[in-house]
Order: sequence, then C-alpha cells, then structure tokens
Amino acid sequence: MCGIIGYKGGKKSSAILLEGIKNLEYRGYDSVGIATIYDGKIELKKDVGRVDEVNKKLNFLELNGFIGIGHTRWSTHGKPSKENAHPHISNDYSIAVVHNGIIENYNELRKELENEGFKFKSETDTEVIPLLIEKYNKKNDFEKAVIKALRRLEGSFAVIIINKDIDKLIAARRFSPLMLGVGKDEFFIASDSTAFIKHTNDIVFMEDDEMVIIDDGFKIVNITDNKIIDKKIEHNRINYYSAEKGNYRHFMLKEIHEQPRVVENTINYFIKNNSLLHNYKNFNRILIVACGTSYYAGLIGKFLIESIVRIPVEVDYSSEFRYKDPIINNTDLVIAISQSGETADTIAAAKEAKNKKAKLIAICNVFGSSLTRMADTTLYTQAGTEIGVASTKAFTSQLAVLYLFSLHLAKINKLMNEKEINKKIKLMKKLPLQMKKILSNNKIKEISEKNFLSNNSVFLGRGVNYPVALEGALKLKEISYIHAEGSPAAELKHGHIALIEKDMPVVVIAVKDKTYYKIKSNIEEIKSRGGKIISIVNEEDEEIENISDEVIEVPETDLLLYPFLTVIPMQLIAYYTGLCRNCDIDKPRNLAKSVTVE
Ligand code: F6R
Repeated sequence: MCGIIGYKGGKKSSAILLEGIKNLEYRGYDSVGIATIYDGKIELKKDVGRVDEVNKKLNFLELNGFIGIGHTRWSTHGKPSKENAHPHISNDYSIAVVHNGIIENYNELRKELENEGFKFKSETDTEVIPLLIEKYNKKNDFEKAVIKALRRLEGSFAVIIINKDIDKLIAARRFSPLMLGVGKDEFFIASDSTAFIKHTNDIVFMEDDEMVIIDDGFKIVNITDNKIIDKKIEHNRINYYSAEKGNYRHFMLKEIHEQPRVVENTINYFIKNNSLLHNYKNFNRILIVACGTSYYAGLIGKFLIESIVRIPVEVDYSSEFRYKDPIINNTDLVIAISQSGETADTIAAAKEAKNKKAKLIAICNVFGSSLTRMADTTLYTQAGTEIGVASTKAFTSQLAVLYLFSLHLAKINKLMNEKEINKKIKLMKKLPLQMKKILSNNKIKEISEKNFLSNNSVFLGRGVNYPVALEGALKLKEISYIHAEGSPAAELKHGHIALIEKDMPVVVIAVKDKTYYKIKSNIEEIKSRGGKIISIVNEEDEEIENISDEVIEVPETDLLLYPFLTVIPMQLIAYYTGLCRNCDIDKPRNLAKSVTVE
C-alpha cells in the first residue's frame, strides 16, 4: 500500500511533505521518511513509527530545500525497520526513490546488481530501483536512465525520484495510483490528492506507464515508446473535508456521527442529478464486485435490486472474480463498489469485466481514482473524505446509492409508478433523523463495555440484515481484535453454535420482518447455551427484550432500509469495545485503508 508524495516549488519542501504524508498516513503507518535536495546533496531522515512519533524524534523540518519526496509505509517486503523505510538511496548517494507497489522480479534484479558490485542496505523490493537507475545513469541523460530502469520492473509501481544533480522531480506509475497537483509555480505528485488538495484543486491523473518530468513546468512521456503525451488538467469537484477530528476523539467516531448528513447529501445529490442514472436501462443480469465492507454493501445491493427490480444479481469478492474466468458478456452490467477506487483487486475485477465487454458502473467516493477512470459511469457517494481506516460512512452512502439505483431501474422498467417511488424516497428521507436517534443512545457505550469481555463473539441477522451482521463482525475484529463470526441466524445450528459458551456476546438483529419469529427461536437456542444476547430490535419490542440480556432500539422503517439503521449499533459497539481495550482505533494493527496490492 504505502503513501508517496513529491514536491517542487518555492516553499520549504519538508513542511509540505510532512503535511502530505500525514494526510496519506491512512495508506500505511509502520514507518516514514523524507528526502530533500539541498546544497547539491540529498538530506534524508527516516525511521519506524507513526508520522508524529518519528517527526518528534527526528524533526523533519530540519531538512532544507525546495524539492523533495516523502513516504509512509505499509510493509510488504521486509519488516518495519529504519533500513527498510523509504526513501531508498543509490550507492553513490545521488538518487533517492519512494515507491508504492510490489516489484515482482526484485530477486532476479537484486542478484544481477549484487553481481555487478552494488550493495543493498535493506530487505525491500524497492531498493533495486535507485540502484538500477544508478547503473544506467552513466551518460548524463538521467531521464533515459530512469526509463531504462523502469522498463526492467515487473509488478506494480508508483515511484517518485530525485537526483541531487538535477533540479527535477521525476515520477511514474504502473498499476499503482499517482496524480500530479498543479499549483501556482509549484507542483505536487502523490498517491492521492488528499496529500495536496489544500494547495491545489487542479489535477493531472497519471495513467499506467506514464512518467512525468517536473521542472518549471511538466512533461509527460510514455515509458514504453517515449512518446510525449498531452494531458488535460482536471478540476477536483469533490469537497475537501478537513482532516481534523473536531470535538471527536477519533476519526472513526466522527465519521460514524457524520452518517445522517452523508446519507442526506447522497439522496439530495442523486435526486438533483438524476440524469447520472439514465444510461442504464435493461440488463439481463447484474454482477457486483467489491472487497471488505464494500462487498457487504454489495450483498445488501443484491437484496435491494432483486427485491425491487427482479433482475438476478451476483456478488463476488473482487479477488475471486478475476481468477474464476467469469461468465459475462455485453448484456451484463457490472457494478464495482469501492470507497477508495484504488483497491487493486477491485480494479483488476473491473478490468476483467471491461475486457469481456460488460458495462461498468463504479460506486466510488474518491474523485478521479483509478476505478472511476475505467468505469463507463461513476456514481459518486457523497461521503466526503473517509480517514478512519475502518469504513463507516462510506458504507451507508454506498447503500444510499444502491437503493436509489434500484428505484431508478424499477422506474424505467415500469415496476413502480412515480407515486410509489416518491413514497419510498419519503421513507428514505426520514433515515437521517432516525440515524441521529440511534447515535444519541448512550446505552450502546455501556453495553459494549459490559458485555464484550470474551475473546469470541457472534453476529447474526437474516435477509437484508444478514450482511449487516457480517459487517458488525468485521468492524469488531478490526477495531477491538476480538474474534467475531458473522452468520445468517438460521445457519447457526449448522456449525457456529458449537462456539457458544457462557457469557459469549451474541449480537442479533431482530427487527420486525418476516423472519422475526424464526430469529426469536434462534435467540432461545443461544440463550439456553449460556450466550449473552444483545438484540437490535424495534422500539418497544418487549417480546425480544424479555429473552435478551440487552436491547438496542432502532426506529421502524421500510424492510429494505433497515441496514442503514441496524449497522449503526454495530459500528458503535466496535468503537466502544476497541476504546475500552485501548486499541488504536483509527489505525488498527496490520491494516491500511487503501489496499493497492493484490
Ligand atoms: C473495513 C474496510 C475494508 C475496505 C476494503 C475495500 O472497515 O475498510 O474492508 O472496505 O479494503 O476498500 P475500498 O472500498 O476502498 O475498495
């Protein structure tokens, strides 16, 4: 994963780079580093730890110069250590490189370079890059040397390169995100525009095999054929949400509380811009591809589309879809859901769909991200920047888009008339207030602190709420490191029930739908085996309350809209349980927000 940034302009580069890597820290946070050019030399500081921690120790602002590169790491090759932290430097100390991606043929390249006398200081795949460039940089044509080195690389890379003897930033990409920010007499290049959006909204999105050379202006060339490419500068249209926590202790809590506004914004945006949905009419079949929380939104999307539109929907993990030689053709619609738009598996799945001539819609939260650039249409969720590594508000905004899209398909297929649709939208518009009511329930904190003391837990739901149970289990695992199983409630008897022991917390979504009485029996089965039942119920449901240890109430809504409400207690349980266990809520161990490697 990793976040990379480069700067060239009239300001002190270390200050811009430090701010940039802080904004990119969600992409990886096991080590950080910055290198600048000053007085004809490379100045470098790097170490293991979070940005603030390392900065406190090393004081990055001591680095001088107007050109530099920065990196925040999520390790793939080589443990987190000072040596493995980026930037990596050539043996002659003239070239520094930051990299995001994986160089798959690094072993072979390393052996070749070692045989030629080059010395390696790290265990990373990245270090082959500065050494290869050094090897080829003999004829005073640095750009050519970089191209020659990049052509030798297999795998994925977004790289930014500086050379102490040249006042230029050079950057290139293949299968890893990279964008150029064009300011007034200054340039930024980074994995994601959040690194520089405070300084400029004008962006050039780099495509695979493109290399940019930045001096007083910029030039983009294709590294495979050396052709110069004329690219347009695009203006970012998405709101920049400040990376401030405000009065909240964690971004996760702030983002959970932003959900009423985010859902409202998404509804209003698509009602105002309903032409965005108009390209899509009749499809024989819809396939949804996504990972993690976005995949669970996809499972709910299946329920919504199949119930409302009666078109068959298949949902696949992006990582599985690509390798199973999926049966798709030009009569299918593929929907790729991704908060970041940079998840490598989802991008690969989307590519596969495009190769097989299917129509591709992206549901995405990040303007201009790689996924949106390959989609026929992007339906942008209006969640604003999501910083907490665990996804929360992106999930509910994805649900809003999926629900509105289902209504749109119902309308054009004449399955619902205007009046019926308006009735559904009216119910949808009530969601923000209903969400606020759940968010103000102080009991959820207490329930989490009191009940989640065991190392195992189970989350159950049925129908459209079954994926919410899966999401509840995922959130708890990520944030509190408690093992959690999500399951359809009735499946419990077929295996998971063996896990139930005294005082093990079992969260059950038991709202009043057609499986209500079946779930009630499932609760009895767990209770008789000693599990602690935390039920998510409709207001004043005494029947379930009488057989539960705890209840969390949600207001009544349309059956298909319940996930918007039932997921909130799940998110809050994960948050407060993690807090109670002193976990690093916004940066859980081993995770990164944007999984840009397969
Ligand atoms: C869980 C979480 C991840 C992401 C997954 C996909 O809290 O955040 O499971 O949902 O990595 O990411 P996107 O949606 O960016 O493709």
